Parts: sequence; C-alpha cells; structure tokens
Amino acid sequence: RKNVEYISTGVKALDDLLEGGIEVGSLTEFIGEFGAGKTQLCHQLSVMVQLPKEKGGLGARALYIDTEGTFRPERVVQIARAKGADPEKVLENIIYARAYNSDHQMLLVDEAKKYIEKNNIRLIIVDSLINHFRSEYPGRENLASRQQKLNRHISQLHKLASLYNLAVVVTNQVMAAPDIFFGNPLKPAGGNIMAHGFTYRIWFRKAKEGKRIARIIDSPKHAEKEAAFAISEDGVTD
Ligand code: GTP
Ligand code: MG
Repeated sequence: RKNVEYISTGVKALDDLLEGGIEVGSLTEFIGEFGAGKTQLCHQLSVMVQLPKEKGGLGARALYIDTEGTFRPERVVQIARAKGADPEKVLENIIYARAYNSDHQMLLVDEAKKYIEKNNIRLIIVDSLINHFRSEYPGRENLASRQQKLNRHISQLHKLASLYNLAVVVTNQVMAAPDIFFGNPLKPAGGNIMAHGFTYRIWFRKAKEGKRIARIIDSPKHAEKEAAFAISEDGVTD
C-alpha cells in the first residue's frame, strides 16, 4: 500500500479507524441518520485537505457539491480557526456548487473535469448523494430507473477519483441501522457499488451525551471497528 495518500479527518480516533484518514483515489460514503455528523465532517474535510502534508492535508482545494443547502461558511470559518488556518483563504479554496436537481448534480461533476487540475482540487464532496434522486424517482415503479441513473453518477465520481487522484466523499442519510444492511438504496439487485471497487463506507450514529460513533462497514481492508468522536465549537473532535 505504498504511495497511497490520505486526508486526515482532524480526529485522531477516526484517522486510526480509517488507518490514515480519507483515502485519495477512492470513494468514501458517510452513512447515517439525521444529525449524525455527516455534514459536519464534510465541512471539516474541506478545511483539512487544504492543510500542509505535515498537518494531515494535501495543500489542495475542495469542490463542495451541496444538494441540500446545508453548507455553512461560518462553520468553515470556526473550523479553520481551530486548525490554525486563515479563514478567508480557507473559504476561497472551497469551490462551492449548489446542485438543484439530479441532472444538475451530474452536470456539475461532469464540468468539474475542466477545472480540477488547474485548481488543484484533491477532494470532492457530494452532500448528499441521493436526495434529489430519491425525490425525483419516488416509489417502487421508479426504482430501476433511479438506480440506473445513480449508478451512472457513482461511476462518474469513481472516474474522477482515479483519473485525477483525488478523494471523493459522499453522504447518504438512512433512517435506521437495518437500512444499511438490508435494502440499502445504493445496493441495486445483482451487486452493490463495491463492484466498482475501492469504496469505503462509514456508518455514523448518535450516542449518549452528544457523542457520535463511527463504524466501518463492508470494507475489504478494514476491521469492523468503531470509534467515538464529538462535535464541538471547534468542529469534529476526539
Ligand atoms: P442530515 O444531513 O440531516 O442527514 O444530518 P448530518 O449527519 O449531516 O448531521 P450534521 O453533520 O448536520 O450534524 C448536525 C449536528 O452537529 C447538530 O445536531 C449539532 O449536534 C452538531 N453541530 C453542528 N454545528 C455545531 C456547532 O457549531 N457547535 C456544536 N457544539 N455542535 C454543532
Ligand atoms: Mg447533512
């Protein structure tokens, strides 16, 4: 596993769980219920990727595709300060795009090719991956077409990850734990997205006293371990 680069999450327990951090060249999926911390960690990663290598980053920019309108610049500012980075510069280095529907979301990913290299983008966030797809293709009768389109989108993202050697992080809200293991919306009949290779899935859940628990599931390389973390004024923390 030489030459694999990682983006530190900024949380020791999570980096240990991930054996280094978010892997570059791969697609990582954050799964979990509302308020579990998926979006918070996306904010933090868009700061972390900018830090120099010795601080766990890649000295690079982030592309933040926001499908739910939950990106908060002021939260980025807080996290940047906590990490000792210049908040203004950090905000400038997050290329923000709001996706208004699934077609637009796919178009944004397609268009990204034009400026990834020029702008040194090493992290693409899609928060969340599937809400537009869910609302535009409701019910069982649309499941097949939704899945087909979603698969095309995921394969778009996989291509960018390997072509430009960048990390892709997507979020996926699930109501309850069993969804993850049975009837996952990202698992079409006849194989899941693991078939595309190199995907890591982390399941976040809320625990007592505001704590959060992360667990790696279905990973070819990680043990099914858990790690606890917190969300504070400083961002996502140990
Ligand atoms: P959905 O998008 O609804 O699926 O949830 P999510 O997993 O993206 O949750 P998100 O990352 O938005 O987490 C929201 C939670 O983070 C809140 O309920 C708070 O507990 C916590 N949080 C967000 N901002 C702050 C902050 O500034 N300070 C503190 N202490 N906690 C915060
Ligand atoms: Mg969210």
